[in-house]
Amino acid sequence: MQVSTEGSPQSSSTKLTAYDIQARKGGAKLSMVSVYDFPFARLAEEAGIDILLVGDSLGMVVQGHDSTVPVTLDDIIYHAKTVRRGAPRTHVVADLPFLTYHIDTARAIENAGRLLQEGGADSVKLEGGQEVAERVEAIVRAGIPVMGHVGLTPQSAGALGGFKVQGRDVASARKILADAEAIANAGAFAMVLEVIPAELGGMITESVSVPTIGIGAGPSCDGQVLVAHDMLGLQERIIGRFAKVYANIGDDVRDAFASFAHEVRQGSFPDEEHSYGMAGDVLEQLQRPSS
Ligand code: KIV
Repeated sequence: MQVSTEGSPQSSSTKLTAYDIQARKGGAKLSMVSVYDFPFARLAEEAGIDILLVGDSLGMVVQGHDSTVPVTLDDIIYHAKTVRRGAPRTHVVADLPFLTYHIDTARAIENAGRLLQEGGADSVKLEGGQEVAERVEAIVRAGIPVMGHVGLTPQSAGALGGFKVQGRDVASARKILADAEAIANAGAFAMVLEVIPAELGGMITESVSVPTIGIGAGPSCDGQVLVAHDMLGLQERIIGRFAKVYANIGDDVRDAFASFAHEVRQGSFPDEEHSYGMAGDVLEQLQRPSS
């Protein structure tokens, strides 16, 4: 199915700034996808996606780890550079990985700065609520736009009891609401709400002054984010039901590899169409014994 991207907010436009994104609160909904390389970034930009996230989900999706904890700042910088080249006209957010903003404020600012200077990102994202609000404020004060991330925060999935829905009881729902308010008050320009009940997603969206971008947080959020590899059927791991699959290119890729292997074994690839010929006289000379 060919879907026109004409008329989508991003189709012919210039890159959204953090300020533009913040101004979309309550307006046209924002689309964001996590991508990690040049070709997917290019395709997402062509499709009119508003924001690209170089997420530390790359640890699980691309590197094959079972958590995001092993991802380093250099990993994110490497992938951010490739995404930047693929999507020069799209806002790129890069994740601050595990322990790159917790130790002290100076290191948090320095690491956030590297994502912009070396990775080419337009803003950074970090996980956590009230406990990281001061860090958010300091990074924003340094002139670096920050996107927050509350609810299920994969870097601390171990402490949260695994990858499961957060905020299902009154105490934890109140805590997530307070976390979201703290991050907005600290100066974040937007925030991700991950895997919380839709009702709580709606309450947070009403209560904070900046756009909420949901992943498994219901339809009331100001925008939605999905991981490209999840939505394209490139995942074997079990994902929550929030991750709608829009295409199954994993099957196409497997079939293509299998056809290639079969044709190589059979000797039917490469055929004439996929080979280069040599001029007759060159061939003749080549076949003559050299004197
Ligand atoms: O790392 C990531 O891709 C994310 C999204 C799931 C929001 O944080």
